[in-house]
Amino acid sequence: MIDSPILEFRDVTKVFYKGTQPVVALEGLNIKIQEGEFVSVIGPSGCGKSTLLNLAAGLSPAAKGDVIYRGSPVDKINLSVGYITQHDNLLPWATVRKNITMGLKIRNVPTAERKQRLEHYLELTGLKGFENHYPAELSGGMRKRCSLARTLIYSPEMVLMDEPFSALDAHVKMIMHKELLRIWDEERKTILFITHDLVEAITLSDRIIVLSARPGQVKQVMQVDLPRPRDPFTLHTKPEFSAIFETLWDGLKDDIYKGENV
Ligand SMILES: Nc1ncnc2c1ncn2[C@@H]1O[C@H](COP(=O)(O)OP(=O)(O)OP(=O)(O)O)[C@@H](O)[C@H]1O
Ligand SMILES: [Mg+2]
Repeated sequence: MIDSPILEFRDVTKVFYKGTQPVVALEGLNIKIQEGEFVSVIGPSGCGKSTLLNLAAGLSPAAKGDVIYRGSPVDKINLSVGYITQHDNLLPWATVRKNITMGLKIRNVPTAERKQRLEHYLELTGLKGFENHYPAELSGGMRKRCSLARTLIYSPEMVLMDEPFSALDAHVKMIMHKELLRIWDEERKTILFITHDLVEAITLSDRIIVLSARPGQVKQVMQVDLPRPRDPFTLHTKPEFSAIFETLWDGLKDDIYKGENV
């Protein structure tokens, strides 16, 4: 296989400062994401997962090392990626319809196509009937779904997703997994997905990267060779699934418990 990853972290360290006090969020990170891959990152709270996505999106620079997108350093906002941030950034003064179609308007997509795509994504995310609501009039889960529709609608070649389904109840989550897998299968986008949920990570991913507690370092990389298409409603009942779950949990649990004791 030719080694030309779409996104690469080369020995990346990220440091924040609280006054003069440094906080090392990520340290010596080496990650390669191939085009079309679905990669999940899991790790304890505060280990630098959102920071990793911010670096890929070009929202903040690395202290050391390089973030490379399609062979070029990410040194400004990376417009090739769609980013569903952990805290949704829906515009409070715009309706669901306007929030979702904003990206298409900026890209000069004709009105008829905007309408057609809006209908599709309202349907897909279960927001039909709420298009004239404002974000403050939505539940937490609906806001997440609105953010998802707003990013997927303009079809970016790579999607960064920061715990996009964490606020959803278990059933809706599985439905969203099914839809996301379908979209990914149809469009073969590259997806970098952050989650705390091992079941979610195994269900969706080709590969799972486990980060250590802060400073986040790659602790374990696991290939998920479960056959596709996968059914999110039954996959977790398979013995192959349990084996992957156990290996991942073994890698994670010490850091999780350490975090709990802080
Ligand atoms: N803008 C910032 N200024 C200062 N420190 C920051 C900033 N952003 C993140 N940090 C620190 O960097 C570390 C990693 O934060 P990050 O948000 O990436 O963690 P995370 O893995 O996404 O956590 P969670 O799972 O809780 O979302 C934390 O210690 C956090 O306090
Ligand atoms: Mg985070």
